[in-house]
Amino acid sequence: MTAGLRLVLDKVGHAYDDMTVLDDISLTAEPGRVTVLVGPSGCGKSTLLGIMGGMLAPTTGTVCCQGEVAPDCLNPLTYVFQDFALLPWRSVAGNVALVLEGRLSRAERADRVREVLALTGLTAFADAWPRQLSGGMRQRVGIARALAVRPACLLMDEPLSALDAQTRALLLDDFAALIERSGTTTVYVTHNLAEAVRLGHRIVVLSRRPGRIREIVSIDRPLSDRRAGDADLAAMEAALWDMIRDDAAAAERDGPVSGHVSA
Ligand SMILES: Nc1ncnc2c1ncn2[C@@H]1O[C@H](COP(=O)(O)OP(=O)(O)O)[C@@H](O)[C@H]1O
Ligand SMILES: [Mg+2]
Repeated sequence: MTAGLRLVLDKVGHAYDDMTVLDDISLTAEPGRVTVLVGPSGCGKSTLLGIMGGMLAPTTGTVCCQGEVAPDCLNPLTYVFQDFALLPWRSVAGNVALVLEGRLSRAERADRVREVLALTGLTAFADAWPRQLSGGMRQRVGIARALAVRPACLLMDEPLSALDAQTRALLLDDFAALIERSGTTTVYVTHNLAEAVRLGHRIVVLSRRPGRIREIVSIDRPLSDRRAGDADLAAMEAALWDMIRDDAAAAERDGPVSGHVSA
């Protein structure tokens, strides 16, 4: 039996009505590793994440979860979104506690909230309201809430893209440390290649729509050993950009598909 959860996709395809957005995607997200999905806007990254998280059934192919979920895990597959989705009428601690209500006793809940607030550097903000927080702090709350359920698999859809560059850089370092410590299976969608090389153990490069796997790039270095400005990572980022530049330009020319604005 494997420790942790492994997500195995076999020949996954997806269509919205008659528009095919994903084609022939076979990949495995491994426990303790970060699988990053990159590709031009509209190529199906969010759709693929939705399929991996079981929110969306693939039109073709299969997704299978293998392995073991720890007994204290309350929600095996947990999402972190880019728009934070916090309840404005609940404090920071209240927002985190929300996902634990009805599942843990009051005392267990308080312990768990305390623990994840400490982990995400939010202890001093436990009683603050979301509107009092910067975007970066709000996204920390989003992360704290996701970690509170001890997810076996963390699914992140461009969690930093609503933030300014400085906040993003700071949070990126924190994310790397948190992810490495938590040992979950992580799938991280981004269109930012610097994020991809900072966080990814495997970077899955998708073509423009219909998204197909162009390449899978592996980076074995531990996340704790990767720094902004690192020459090897910069070279990898440049190589990734070479792979997707033409597709990104073409996707840009095509513009968003009518009737649906993609993130
Ligand atoms: N619910 C939906 N119904 C119809 N079309 C959709 C829906 N969601 C996404 N799309 C379209 O599918 C394509 C892929 O979308 P998405 O997975 O959001 O791409 P990405 O996250 O890579 O930008 C886009 O063209 C988008 O407009
Ligand atoms: Mg998206």
